[in-house]
Amino acid sequence: MKPVKVGLLGIGTVGTGTFNVLHRNQEEIRRRAGRGIEIAMVADLNTTRATEITQGRCRVVADAWQVVNDPEIDIVIELIGGYGIAKELVLAAIANGKHVVTANKALLATHGNEIFRAAQDKGVMVAFEAAVAGGIPIIKALREGLTANRIQWVAGIINGTTNFILSEMRDKGLDFGSVLKQAQELGYAEADPTFDIEGVDAAHKATLMAAIAFGIPVQFDKAYVEGITRLQSCDIAFAEQLGYRIKLLGIAKRVQNQGAEAIELRVHPTLIPAKRLIANVEGAMNAVLVQGDAVGATLYYGKGAGSEPTASAVIADLVDITRLATADPEHRVPHLAFQPDAMSDIQIVPMSEVCTSYYLRMRVKDQPGVLADITRILADGDISIDAMLQKEPGDGESQTDIIILTHLTREKHVLAAIERMQSLPTVLGAVTRIRMEELN
Ligand code: NDP
Ligand code: HSE
Repeated sequence: MKPVKVGLLGIGTVGTGTFNVLHRNQEEIRRRAGRGIEIAMVADLNTTRATEITQGRCRVVADAWQVVNDPEIDIVIELIGGYGIAKELVLAAIANGKHVVTANKALLATHGNEIFRAAQDKGVMVAFEAAVAGGIPIIKALREGLTANRIQWVAGIINGTTNFILSEMRDKGLDFGSVLKQAQELGYAEADPTFDIEGVDAAHKATLMAAIAFGIPVQFDKAYVEGITRLQSCDIAFAEQLGYRIKLLGIAKRVQNQGAEAIELRVHPTLIPAKRLIANVEGAMNAVLVQGDAVGATLYYGKGAGSEPTASAVIADLVDITRLATADPEHRVPHLAFQPDAMSDIQIVPMSEVCTSYYLRMRVKDQPGVLADITRILADGDISIDAMLQKEPGDGESQTDIIILTHLTREKHVLAAIERMQSLPTVLGAVTRIRMEELN
């Protein structure tokens, strides 16, 4: 049988890994796919670099439209990134009847509904295993392996850059800026690294996982997004003393809100008990914990970013498409796991209604009555204290830190209490608030 012809758009970090792994393991991959898979054309703005990487093994062009419009190409791999030209190229490839593989979570989290609908109408596949958690086959696990389950929640460390930054800051005492630079050099960070550090990238991935886990449309605009830029190293240290680790978590959870079923979709720094396996996921590694009603908890761990780990997922999609290309489109696994006409309109909960426990840290004047005022405010807000830590003031200092861990509380009540605390003359500056999850 003739090999499947693939056109690759963008031969940067992931594109290079894809090209190299596909060549290195081509015989193994052919035996698995039942057909050879050949990258016949590569488009990249930098044709000199693309030619060096491909070494005459395929055609190199600067214009990605040549690939998308070439009738010889069966599958287009989009590895350019962003939602500008990438969106136009993906939609054009679909319109031309080509299957698409992409690692572009930004594109799918914002325009996924349109893209999946177009693919459905045309009878082609859009595969995106690499878009969530790099090399970890979490899409496959959620969409197929766990298909018997009613998923209760998914919580993951799904951004390698921020996990790398938090780990290096904690273990080596390095500063934020220099670790971010390292992450960029290692190819983990997005073209715009604010997507990583402000939690946007993790929210793109959480949005896709929520859609697949709960059978809802992709709704990135409803996700709550908070990154790690406001985290202070003292909070990382206090959390350790209290038996917790701080991780940037992407969480999608089925809950009851005002008597109706709803979904929480949120990304924020989170205190997790240090004894949990996921709390010990370090560096650029990712991990996703899924709670299903039948299977219980399952944990998926691996490299969430980088050239070849991500290529591993891209190529898995190529093999899947090669195997399924001749199957009746009705019998393929739906893009978002549920049949398109059986999606749910279950609502996303506004962040103010979300219930979690909280870590609160406040800098206070070391004088009588301070603690009483703070605990009174918490009691007025019906916020129950789980644990408290007061640091000794340093020599000659008249200020200290108080750390309070609360029981489960609604976000809006905590925000109201924080506002009142911050108005006390004895509370100095802003109160730090970090959410907590037990993940059990
Ligand atoms: P890179 O920036 O390394 O690669 C993108 C490539 O696309 C560059 O070579 C760029 O050329 C080229 N390019 C840009 N515009 C065009 C265009 N109009 N036509 C043809 N080529 C173009 O990105 P990554 O490989 O890191 O990421 C690719 C995608 O994979 C993104 O969506 C990213 O979010 C996703 N991803 C990345 C992971 C990673 O670890 N890096 C992991 C998982 C997903 P030039 O450099 O000349 O601009
Ligand atoms: N910038 C992303 C990360 C790449 O750091 O996780 C993988 O999606």
